[in-house]
Amino acid sequence: MIRKYTFGTPFPTDAVVLSLPAEKGPVPYLDLSREGNQVVLTRKLQPEDVLFGLGESVRGINKRGFRYVSWNSDIFSHTESTESLYASHNFLVFFGPGCLFGVYLDDPGRVSWDLGFTRSDTAVITSENGNLDLYVLEEDSLPALARSFRKLTGRSYLPPRWAFGYIQSRWGYASEAECRAVAEEHRKRDIPLDGICMDIDYMEEYKNFTWRKDAFPDLERFSRDMREEHIHLVPIIDAGIRQEEGYPPYDSGKAGDSFCKKGDGSDFTAAVWPGLCCFPDFLREDVRRWFGSLYRPLLEAGVEGFWNDMNEPSLFYTPERLEAALLRTRETASGGDYEALWSLSSAFNSLANNEEDYRSFFHHPSGTAVRHDKVHNLYGAFMTRASAEGFRRFDPDRRFLLFSRSSFIGAHRNGGVWTGDNSSWWSHLKLVLQMLPNLNLCGFLYSGCDLGGFSCNVTEDLLARFLQLGVFTPLMRNHSALHTREQEVYRFSSWEDLRSILRVRYALLPFLYSEFMKAALSDGMYFRPLAFDYPEDPRAVATEDQLLLGEGCMIAPVLEQNASGRYVYLPEDMLMIRFRSPEDYDLVPLDRGDHRISLGLREFPLFVKKNHAVLLCPGGTSTETLDDRSFTVLGRTDTAVRYDLYRDDGIDPHPVLEEHLTPVFLPAAAPSVPVPGVAISTAVL
Ligand code: GLC
Repeated sequence: MIRKYTFGTPFPTDAVVLSLPAEKGPVPYLDLSREGNQVVLTRKLQPEDVLFGLGESVRGINKRGFRYVSWNSDIFSHTESTESLYASHNFLVFFGPGCLFGVYLDDPGRVSWDLGFTRSDTAVITSENGNLDLYVLEEDSLPALARSFRKLTGRSYLPPRWAFGYIQSRWGYASEAECRAVAEEHRKRDIPLDGICMDIDYMEEYKNFTWRKDAFPDLERFSRDMREEHIHLVPIIDAGIRQEEGYPPYDSGKAGDSFCKKGDGSDFTAAVWPGLCCFPDFLREDVRRWFGSLYRPLLEAGVEGFWNDMNEPSLFYTPERLEAALLRTRETASGGDYEALWSLSSAFNSLANNEEDYRSFFHHPSGTAVRHDKVHNLYGAFMTRASAEGFRRFDPDRRFLLFSRSSFIGAHRNGGVWTGDNSSWWSHLKLVLQMLPNLNLCGFLYSGCDLGGFSCNVTEDLLARFLQLGVFTPLMRNHSALHTREQEVYRFSSWEDLRSILRVRYALLPFLYSEFMKAALSDGMYFRPLAFDYPEDPRAVATEDQLLLGEGCMIAPVLEQNASGRYVYLPEDMLMIRFRSPEDYDLVPLDRGDHRISLGLREFPLFVKKNHAVLLCPGGTSTETLDDRSFTVLGRTDTAVRYDLYRDDGIDPHPVLEEHLTPVFLPAAAPSVPVPGVAISTAVL
């Protein structure tokens, strides 16, 4: 059951696909009050109450005990004190004894979530602008709530199958030759690889939709050669368009009057990588159509995947603010006390992503001006929409890879997300583990982080542990920042061990792809908190470092340096597969309860519920060349198990399910296996 309540005049965000009538009368579960324009929703929390949701945000799987702010921010080097990240996902589930409901605030402006921060027994949700549709969802279980939210907001994006392969990326691949060398190192050493991301280095002076002819002379040939190696090029596209006459995207944007405007009607400009940029007014349909068409030459050159960046939008500075800071420098230079110096330093420190700048420009979605800060959190989502619509126009029968840094609910229908600029920190390994189930709850199934960490220097063991988690994340991309330690797998002395981790990904790929498709097509979750399957088990509900995966699995990665293993809580009897490589693993049946699992640096576990199966294929070094016709089927079964395998890469998922469904039946017992209770069989399809 979903109820809708409308406050003020909500902006059409495109987040919701169900059209429901707004109800009058009191909002269930929440106390409603108004403070000026603000709409404030309050709920008393019981000690056992747990809060799930808010997608991309810091801290635990349970969001209780902190204050979060929905305000999309370019927040390089975030920590557990950071209130806002790159995305805003305003869906929160309250779960406790006698309490189960979800709230979604369809509000593209600033929303704060004081979830037991000011008072540990109270949740206070505040919409700053007070123009919103509030949805209250009621179901009788956590998975049903997740499904109901997806019914409200639409089915999750389906990436192509190759997007489940390993992708190597780095800010700093400055030429075709360098990218080719990366490809060659992988192929030479049999390190699996399906994609290479091209960062801003491929562009001419960082201008979108250009490429440096000196360093990337023939993109079409390069892309074709890479495709022969079964490697996809995945270029980055940023939100801003450099303001420069004679640069075609600027000229065509200008001709269509496509950019966001200042109050005086002139184009708003701010500096990003290419210098001063104009910002497409993605909220306009005609602008999305224009921007989406700019991808065409790249698509025609054979590119099938993109990452959209800097779309919070990130603003390094506006000319006006820089001028004011420079003026203050001149004043301070002619004499000033320490206060003048402090204020000078703050003038420069507040140049980037300044709140006032976000209040100084306007969108014109339907002729009328809408001040940017009122709809700030939509910008990245509508850029994603512009790209996805462009791809669909280019080829409606193909699935393209698209992932974005910034997002809002609704963007989950058009693309995936990566979680922005993390660091090579152990704490950020844990952070992404805890974000993933909440991202899934909000519809972003295709997601992942910069494996190895973006900023700072990775260590070999941290990369191994990141990759061991990455084996299970739909987006598996190693990405790092300019000037950091080189992070490609082959740079490290233990590269063969790191390769084994990637080989496990490829051996599991048909299985993981199938689990993803089943979750996406049933409006379910690929990653879930344990509470979703074991709501009556307080230990499971409180588990913060293990996740359920797909229909019948659980992961519990090692998250600490120098750990030789970890404690794992099993809410029911399971089979542990302890991987070292696709051919080298232990099968250990474990009973419900606590276990200390030994996990050397080369080892990582996958847990399988009884009467569920995991399929391992011989693998390969790309999704196209994957040997996925025969499987070793691992499970702890006392009955035959049917497995629905998805292979298809087609555009319409329903025929995929019906036409390509390939059941595999496991025998209840496999005589060749010495481990009691563990069935292994080989299924040839
Ligand atoms: C941003 C992105 C990062 C990218 C860099 C350069 O920081 O988040 O992934 O490498 O810009 O384009």
